[in-house]
Amino acid sequence: MASDKLIAFLVIVVALLLQGNNKTVVEAQLRTDFYSKTCPDLHAIVRARLGNAIAAEPRMAASVLRLFYLDCFVNGCDASILLKDTPRNAGEQNAAPNRNSVRGFEVIDDIRMWTNHKCLGVVSCADILAIAARDAVVATGGPSWDVPLGRRDTITVSQEAANSGIPAPNSSLSELVTSFGKLGFTPREMVALSGAHTIGFAQCKHFRERIHYWRDIDWLHFATTRKQTCPETPGPSDGNLVELDSRTPFKFDNGYFWSLFGKRGLLHSDQQLYNGGIGFPNSIVWEYMANEKTFRSDFAAAMLKMSQISPLTGHVGEIRHNCSEINEWFSK
Ligand code: HEM
Ligand SMILES: *[C@@H]1O[C@H](CO)[C@@H](O)[C@H](O)[C@H]1NC(C)=O
Ligand SMILES: *[C@@H]1O[C@H](CO)[C@@H](O)[C@H](O)[C@H]1NC(C)=O
Repeated sequence: MASDKLIAFLVIVVALLLQGNNKTVVEAQLRTDFYSKTCPDLHAIVRARLGNAIAAEPRMAASVLRLFYLDCFVNGCDASILLKDTPRNAGEQNAAPNRNSVRGFEVIDDIRMWTNHKCLGVVSCADILAIAARDAVVATGGPSWDVPLGRRDTITVSQEAANSGIPAPNSSLSELVTSFGKLGFTPREMVALSGAHTIGFAQCKHFRERIHYWRDIDWLHFATTRKQTCPETPGPSDGNLVELDSRTPFKFDNGYFWSLFGKRGLLHSDQQLYNGGIGFPNSIVWEYMANEKTFRSDFAAAMLKMSQISPLTGHVGEIRHNCSEINEWFSK
């Protein structure tokens, strides 16, 4: 009897040790210098090609940043967002939050081409995206952080996971807190990450209801002018674009929080972070308005955390040759 208990105890201890161990191994496998010997030009390539794309179209910085967020929120940063649908598998690109919306794939494909040229079969698409997202923030004047590398690319896709894991633009505050909480983010980190909407654009279909029907809005100027771009009736105007931060849509600053303060958040989910009351989350919006440095360091820390959501490492997954499709020997 006593030895049974002892054995049960040992099994539990070993299980706990293994669990803890797995975690540290996974984290230890991502390293900022992962490619320093195998692909020393990687950072220069990403910076140059992304810079080229942003010069051609300034919005591309925002699009690439969003691409990374959409990747990481669905089964971790594993380049799943980059996979096109195949006859057998419906991918994430056509999930409800992403369809006719997510963009920037050609920039990643271009970087893939250059890294294939310099170091074929070495760098994952997931890592390219992680570096490009950081560089997109830096290119628009935002903070920088060291990107841990060594992620591998997934060989599985789940459109359902994308449908359920990505918060909708009409989410309430508690829904936002919950969906970010599921991935280990604090409410404060959720507010900081939402600050990514300091750059980029949204389509009319994503804010139509807010500007026409909601009252927590600067209706006199803000709503009135947006209604001209985004009339009440769904139709050809669905895709019309409006800047998420009307103050400085191409500059990564704390203008987004000033917009929220003025009741000029474009999405319903944006304005949920500020309702004019006191306490959370209004207090954090004030803090980021008053102190841009705090926003910058909170954002960088939260991005670093996001970039480490369940990475595939070691021999799991693969290094995709073409970021849009799983390598042939796996898919056949
Ligand atoms: C808080 C929950 C979030 C919701 C509900 C949300 C929703 C949206 C929506 C609806 C759009 C416009 C898409 C379109 O109209 O085609 C958008 C754009 C964008 N989102 Fe978010 N988002 C959230 C969080 C984030 C996070 C955490 C990031 C990055 C860290 C991010 C980065 C962006 C960027 C940069 C754009 C502009 C993209 C472009 O101009 O191409 N978003 N978001
Ligand atoms: C949000 O929008 C979706 C799609 O239009 C709708 O099905 C859902 O009921 C809306 N949710 C809320 C809370 O309004
Ligand atoms: C990558 O794969 C996509 C989708 O299968 C295909 O359309 C594209 O031509 C491929 N790109 C290259 C460079 O082979």
